[in-house]
Amino acid sequence: MTLAELENAKAESLKEVAAANDAAAVEALRVKYVGRNGSIPALIKAMKDVPKDERPAFGKAVQAWRAEVEAALAAKGAGSSGEKSVDADLTLPGRWWGLGAKHPLSRVIEETARIFGRLGFTVADGPELENRFNNFTALNTPPHHPSMDRSDTFWFGEDCLLRTQTSPVQIRTMMANKPPIRVICPGRTYRRDTTDATHSANFHQIEGLYVDTKPVSLADLKSVLAYFAKEMMGDGVTVRFRPHFFPFTEPSVEVDFTCHVCKGKGCNVCKQSGWIEVAGAGMVDPRVFGHVGYDAEKVSGYAFGFGVERIAMIKYGIPDIRWLYENDVRFLSQLA
Ligand code: PHE
Repeated sequence: MTLAELENAKAESLKEVAAANDAAAVEALRVKYVGRNGSIPALIKAMKDVPKDERPAFGKAVQAWRAEVEAALAAKGAGSSGEKSVDADLTLPGRWWGLGAKHPLSRVIEETARIFGRLGFTVADGPELENRFNNFTALNTPPHHPSMDRSDTFWFGEDCLLRTQTSPVQIRTMMANKPPIRVICPGRTYRRDTTDATHSANFHQIEGLYVDTKPVSLADLKSVLAYFAKEMMGDGVTVRFRPHFFPFTEPSVEVDFTCHVCKGKGCNVCKQSGWIEVAGAGMVDPRVFGHVGYDAEKVSGYAFGFGVERIAMIKYGIPDIRWLYENDVRFLSQLA
């Protein structure tokens, strides 16, 4: 481009800017002339091809063109110019990152603590790495019980394991306190299970324990669990007990909740039975009291335990336990 051509181009560009009558047109001209790939930056880039002796004059003319066009554009309200331009459209709306939501397992744990809190229970805690005594022996588990097997439990040497249940927190709480005791103990538990839609090697339980010097009965246990069932799952939900066996309770029961979907009529959620199995429970075995130094003649109590995942899955209709651990926001945000 010769100097004369440059002057023509400049005059042409200024005419165009003068004629531009809306923001889009001004912006298009800004891009055309002073934008990153505009004609003025292109001329500056091509400067090395201009014969050396013409370069200063040519350079000056290009800079003058740039200054005049920028001034004309600015007068028309163009937002930015040449080198100083921000390469973003500041008029675009901001990006929405979404709100976080509380995890379903945290919800169930907090809700459980609130419900039992209204009945006078406090929350107790214990370590995930336990010893054999707290996780098995004190809970009256016979020495060769299969749950102690290496294929069922994560052992670290002879006396150290990842707790298989939250029941050892019962033991710790009783050893550290005198009755009356009313605690719930939420926490992580571990079993050597192969992961599938309903099993996980690392899951959560909530244990409950009530021990008192006045007589505690199975009826007390049932009423407390019935209250919990109604508060957690909704009106019309109650409990039934089925005889069962746990080493640390006698008698022991399995606890079913009325199906909260059909209210007991039978549907595909409860496999037409009207009931959903939820918890294990029973009256604390006198031998357990013996292990923690309580006089079994003077105290009585009940214990119960259930899986947090199980409650979350039935309450929120989650068909696969793995969804609870994948941290997929499409799943998690549904409870927001
Ligand atoms: N810990 C038992 C289990 O893991 C559940 C349970 C707790 C049963 C308390 C009775 C009393 O299956």
